[in-house]
Parts: sequence; structure tokens; C-alpha cells
Amino acid sequence: MANIRLVVGTVSGKAQSIADAMTQELSHQHKVVVTAQAVLEDITDEKMDTLLIVCSTTGSGDIPANLVGLFYELRERFPLLPNLQYGVVALGDRSFGDTFCGAGKQWDELLTELTAKPLGSMLALDACDSVDPWTRCQDWLKTTSLNS
Ligand SMILES: Cc1cc2nc3c(=O)[nH]c(=O)nc-3n(C[C@H](O)[C@H](O)[C@H](O)COP(=O)(O)O)c2cc1C
Repeated sequence: MANIRLVVGTVSGKAQSIADAMTQELSHQHKVVVTAQAVLEDITDEKMDTLLIVCSTTGSGDIPANLVGLFYELRERFPLLPNLQYGVVALGDRSFGDTFCGAGKQWDELLTELTAKPLGSMLALDACDSVDPWTRCQDWLKTTSLNS
């Protein structure tokens, strides 16, 4: 059983919907704490061994307003997180070109720099995809060590 903290970055609620479904699914096997407005101490909390970031992209490759402060604080304070495993589920839209899933990519890069260990490759969910994002997410979860 993993102790998971799930942190959501969203503008219009799609990432929240995915996070809600993930919470429901993962709660069968793991302890999941969803943090609506996460602060630095939530990320460095050693009671948690797993961090899941579910984050959409806004602007031009940017992190939504509800998570951008945390992102910059982490980057500035740079707490090393060698005991943390993490996964990033990035929401975006391929029609935005180079900035596709830019926010998720920023999280993935930062958490790697902070020496956290990836559960697997970042999942990029494209709003233009004809496949339901939750189906994609379930398939992705199966590829991770969370193995749901
Ligand atoms: C103003 C605006 C800017 C966006 N910019 C990007 C972008 O740069 N890259 C990207 O991949 N998606 C971009 N998107 C698409 C959203 O990330 C995508 O629709 C996502 O599913 C929204 O999730 P949310 O409801 O959780 O915010 C943008 C959407 C809007 C409305």
C-alpha cells in the first residue's frame, strides 16, 4: 500500500474530474489524500511516499494559477525528495503545438531535478483525443508500480 498525495492543477475542472476518478480507483489499494491547495510542506511531508500531480496547461505552456505558486516555491527552495516516487498526469491540447502539456512537463522536470523517482513516463492527455481521458488514465495506472 502506498501513501499517496494527489495534487490538482486546473482551470476549468477537467483535471479535477480525472483526479476524482483516480482517487476513487486508487483508494481500493492505497491511502490517498487529495490536497486542493497544496503548500510546500505537503510535498515534503515524509509520511507520504507517492506524489501524483494531475495538471492541465494554461496560457502558453503555463501552470494553472492554483498551483503556480507552489511550483515556484519548490523551484526556489529546492528541497531534495529522494524518498518520494511521483507520477504526472498532464492535460493539454495538441493544437497548442510546442506548448502541448507544458505544465505537466515542467512538473516532471522539476520533480526529477529534486531527485524524486518517476513511477513511469508522464501521461499526456490530449483534449482532441477521441479516446476518453479516464480510459487512457486507467491504462497508464496499470503501467505504473501502483498497478491498479
Ligand atoms: C486559455 C487556454 C490556454 C491553453 N493553453 C494550452 C497550452 O499552452 N498547451 C496545452 O497543451 N493546452 C493548453 N490548453 C488546453 C487545456 O490544457 C486543456 O483544455 C485541458 O484539458 C483543460 O483542463 P482543465 O479544465 O483542468 O483546466 C489551454 C486552454 C485554454 C482555455
